[in-house]
Amino acid sequence: MTKFKLGLIVGSNRRQSINRALAQALGQLGAEHFEPKLIRIDDLPIYNQDLEAALPASVTRFKAEVEAADAILFVTPEHSRSIPAVLKSAIDWGTRPWGKNSWTGKTAAVTGTSQGAVATAVAQQHLRAVLGDIGMVVMGGEAYISFKPGLVDERHVVTDASVRAFLQAFLDQLAALTAKLTAKVVPRAAA
Ligand SMILES: Cc1cc2nc3c(=O)[nH]c(=O)nc-3n(C[C@H](O)[C@H](O)[C@H](O)COP(=O)(O)O)c2cc1C
Repeated sequence: MTKFKLGLIVGSNRRQSINRALAQALGQLGAEHFEPKLIRIDDLPIYNQDLEAALPASVTRFKAEVEAADAILFVTPEHSRSIPAVLKSAIDWGTRPWGKNSWTGKTAAVTGTSQGAVATAVAQQHLRAVLGDIGMVVMGGEAYISFKPGLVDERHVVTDASVRAFLQAFLDQLAALTAKLTAKVVPRAAA
């Protein structure tokens, strides 16, 4: 079976990011359906329309990697009860220049982890709204992962069996949605 190309985008540029650790674990967990690729955003400049005249190499690379993916999985922390600025800026680069939106028509799923009690719920709500507005097909459901030390081990394995099973079902759902979206339309027989 051909696997879908899954772009993993982490909403944190922190070296020890717990969301990057979770994203790496998700890449591994979804290996049955997906060929995962971590799409970095930490080398992108903050979005500035002046730079569109000669796109920086990092932006060109980022947009090409997004365009090559069948589905994008966003794994993000919450900053000040919303989307981290570094992620919002990357999303804006993906929509530009005008007429060159790299996100259009791709499936998107959103998750994230934090040590906080509501574990990224507000950031995820804001992010889902933005992704719908820029033309992505956003998977329903919710995946708020409460982070405890050791949740993801050094081999990128989710150590808690119930969290692992939950995330496996989440990835299965994303694969099913992506399959529907990428299915070939059979032409109608002529009357
Ligand atoms: C600027 C800033 C704002 C934050 N705001 C929130 C918040 O609104 N809600 C929350 O649960 N955690 C918040 N946190 C805590 C982050 O969830 C925590 O730092 C987490 O480890 C970030 O994920 P990362 O390790 O992937 O960068 C904030 C952290 C920073 C640096």
